[in-house]
Amino acid sequence: MSNILFFLVNVERMSKHQVLVTGGAGYIGSHACLQLLKEGFEVVVIDNLTNSSKISLQRVEELVDRRLVFVEEDIRNEKEVEKIIRFHNIGSVIHFAGLKAVGESVEYPLEYYENNVGGALSLFKAMKNCGIKNLIFSSSATVYGIPEKSPITENSSLSAVNPYGSTKLSIEKIIQDIVNSDNQWRSAILRYFNPVGAHPSGKIGEDPKDIPNNLMPYITQVAMRKLEKLSVYGDDYDTPDGTGVRDYIHVMDLVDGHIAALHYLLNQPPKNNVIVNLGTGIGCSVLELIKTFEKINNIEVPYEIAERRAGDVASCYADASYAYELLNWSAKRDISQMCKDSFEWQTKNPNGFE
Ligand code: NAD
Ligand code: UD1
Repeated sequence: MSNILFFLVNVERMSKHQVLVTGGAGYIGSHACLQLLKEGFEVVVIDNLTNSSKISLQRVEELVDRRLVFVEEDIRNEKEVEKIIRFHNIGSVIHFAGLKAVGESVEYPLEYYENNVGGALSLFKAMKNCGIKNLIFSSSATVYGIPEKSPITENSSLSAVNPYGSTKLSIEKIIQDIVNSDNQWRSAILRYFNPVGAHPSGKIGEDPKDIPNNLMPYITQVAMRKLEKLSVYGDDYDTPDGTGVRDYIHVMDLVDGHIAALHYLLNQPPKNNVIVNLGTGIGCSVLELIKTFEKINNIEVPYEIAERRAGDVASCYADASYAYELLNWSAKRDISQMCKDSFEWQTKNPNGFE
């Protein structure tokens, strides 16, 4: 076959490729659906809407002027998932669905294991039964536990310091065992650092149900005067300004990393399991984030210095070089862009999707 013909056949194959996105109505999932549709993939979403609204998916369709299929379903319902995979002729799965609040996982460990690990098992069994063996999984930098040093490479030691982290580590292990047992699987385990930001249109974004635990959504709500002031958890860490340092990554860059991983998997022979950090490789302190947010959005963010938060580490940022080497992907958007897009989403949707 000539090179041109091979290219055309490949483009045709890609454009018809059906991707099942679990948890697709959520924060990262909705941005992923948007980019998948833009790239020409067909998208089927399964979400039980425990932490999301289907309005996010309507907005995705409006933004990209293409349709997706949404099925309100729980991934633990293995037989239904199987039917969906067969009916829609799914080729690959991107698995975002899960519960993600660290504090809540400490309070309700059984629910977290049941939903996250139980859900992953049902999904993987359904995939196996249907012969669908291309998988991308949302893991987290939380699997590095309390990192000894940053930047963190994929080979750093792993540990779980809360039930949420244990569920991520368990699912990673399950995926590796499946790949080892069956040479038809291809998988990418993506370890996210701190996703923030929103699509620049301000039409989709992060919509926390209660008072946010994470820094960026807390800042946007203080800036909107929905919350009075931000508590900065500790200014006596061993970091340049004493406040915690993290690797914030724009959600649009993060989902581009998934598209790169999907293209990579589809072009690899089976029996491939890759584990990749998705971060910028740049550390940013709490005070730096506040200052950048204030400057780019021309708004004050009142804050006070508070006690350290239990379980926090001083510094945590990625060595992002493997993602570039393997996937030819790197984050493009800077902290200013993250602050601008987060605030645009919040001001346009003061009550989220409600
Ligand atoms: P999110 O809560 O916005 O999205 C998760 C989606 O999964 C929600 O729409 C929820 O309704 C759905 N869901 C949960 N359990 C389900 C089930 N049993 N069946 C069907 N649907 C179910 O969270 P997010 O921020 O978009 O995170 C997506 C994934 O990325 C999660 O697995 C999370 O652990 C992981 N992750 C997130 C972050 C972060 O900071 N946001 C960081 C690292 C990893
Ligand atoms: C938290 C989770 C982690 C999860 C990640 C992404 C904990 C202990 N860790 O990480 O498992 O993978 O979210 O979802 O919950 N901060 C403040 N004031 C605030 C909120 C945060 O000063 O009101 C500081 C924190 O001390 C930290 C930084 O901001 O230094 C970032 O915090 P956060 O957004 O919660 O993310 P992580 O702690 O990195």
